[in-house]
Amino acid sequence: GAVRYYKFDVEYMIRQPDCNDHVVMGINGQYPGPTIKAQVGDTLHIVLTNKLSTEGTVIHWHGIKQYGTPWADGTASISQCAISPGETFHYRFTVDRPGTYFYHGHYGMQRAAGLYGFLIVDLAKGQKEPFHYDGEFNLLLSDWWHKSTRELEIGLSSKPFKWINEPQTLLINGRGQYNCSMAANVMNNTLPQCKFRGSEECAPQILHVDPNKTYRIRIASSTSLVSLNLAIGNHKMVVVEADGNYVQPFTVDDIDIYSGESYSVLVTTNQDPKNNYWISVGVRGRKPETPQGLTILNYKTISASIFPTSPPPITPQWDDFKRSKAFSQKMIGLMGTPQPPHYYDRRIHLLNTQNLVDGYVKWAINNVSLTLPSTPYLASMKLKLNGAFDPKSPPENFSANYDIFNPPMNPNSSIGNGVYKFELNQVVDVILQNANVMKGKNSEIHPWHLHGHDFWVLGYGDGKFQPSDETKFNLKNPPLRNTAVIFPYGWTALRFKANNPGVWAFHCHIEPHLHMGMVVIFAEGVQNVNAIPREAIACGRANKMFMNMKHN
Ligand code: C2O
Ligand code: CU
Repeated sequence: GAVRYYKFDVEYMIRQPDCNDHVVMGINGQYPGPTIKAQVGDTLHIVLTNKLSTEGTVIHWHGIKQYGTPWADGTASISQCAISPGETFHYRFTVDRPGTYFYHGHYGMQRAAGLYGFLIVDLAKGQKEPFHYDGEFNLLLSDWWHKSTRELEIGLSSKPFKWINEPQTLLINGRGQYNCSMAANVMNNTLPQCKFRGSEECAPQILHVDPNKTYRIRIASSTSLVSLNLAIGNHKMVVVEADGNYVQPFTVDDIDIYSGESYSVLVTTNQDPKNNYWISVGVRGRKPETPQGLTILNYKTISASIFPTSPPPITPQWDDFKRSKAFSQKMIGLMGTPQPPHYYDRRIHLLNTQNLVDGYVKWAINNVSLTLPSTPYLASMKLKLNGAFDPKSPPENFSANYDIFNPPMNPNSSIGNGVYKFELNQVVDVILQNANVMKGKNSEIHPWHLHGHDFWVLGYGDGKFQPSDETKFNLKNPPLRNTAVIFPYGWTALRFKANNPGVWAFHCHIEPHLHMGMVVIFAEGVQNVNAIPREAIACGRANKMFMNMKHN
């Protein structure tokens, strides 16, 4: 494959993502960041310069496995040191699978600040997708707050706790319309700020199509908080890809998409070509206080400035979880998808709870809320540095009589930074168990994302996982994914092979949850990792070691 070279300058800029001035994090003066396009087998060489004046940064390549290059995974304190202001870091890794991926900041809450972009990997020359299409579009979905990321982040780690609340705007490719995204306003064209010439930064990016063609729409969600549902007026969608893996095609009117997920859908433009159609994105899974995000599917037979005659598709009821589950369960691996082993070597149960630590609100897994150490795990494990993190393994289970349907009896949890260590090539089952939040009767959705691997989603269930639930696992054609959701008061069973030497985050992709400790660390075969560039890990205890080496 070819080496594709990119220069990424990360900086703060003033932009108008939702028609109002905001500070956003951009790359090379662009927001969202540039789309990376590569072919299977290529090596991406991204030279990242941190041009933020007062904070570190890293970029994670979400969905890329990083075989042989775990140091390029872009997770601060896990795979590398945060890149200091003014410094340059070289990411170098191979993309070995076709699919729809994206990249985003993985330090503090830099994703909420706008640090993201698409990463598309095409098949190698001469290879064909298992479906046909005439053109393609990319839609990167995100949520936007009017408060600064700093204010949001500090609120989360304050006493008393200050929640970030719902986002003001939903963005499609970094564009949304605050104050005029109400469909009625757009339709009646009443508000002057809703009349777009198309040159405004916040004007919707319109999808221009020819009639009677098939388009592939790649959709990824980089939201910080909300789960979404996307629909195109009058048009069906055929889901063909999820998280870089082909799925058995199925047809739907709308798709649910959780933070960290990506899909490809095929849309055939077989509707009245004398009309345009709304593409709408709305909130699912939490009580929406954010208006729909909108753009237009424009049949080139007519002008793009003609508003659709029918109103935007209505987002399904936010708390219709039955509907959400039905959608998730439609996903099965396309024939030819590797099957999971019919056994596991190790099974860990992870209970998701909201807790208090010293009066601070946290999220905990088996009663441990993770705080990142100052030396990246990859460095301390590879260099065998003592004292960099808790050497004791975190709990693999939780008390059998934990009542998942009620607030915790004792809301206190502890903080920790231990690592789940797997033998290389072990087959690992993870049973994610949801529970009630700390106060009141409620249970939230959590989309769990695993770095460095895909996992098979063996099944979803309601209530507390029972050993007998195993009989319901799909071992025949489960989908391979890198993100899977746990539904309120339910469980989700995953299986993966620990076949990628390195240290990997496994976490809830809701950024405030991750920030509040909803993350665990997996490691396997770290001694097999070779050639970690020193610049990746020269901080904390590793840096001290390097300094001593210099002096001796
Ligand atoms: Cu896209 Cu660790 O996340
Ligand atoms: Cu979560």
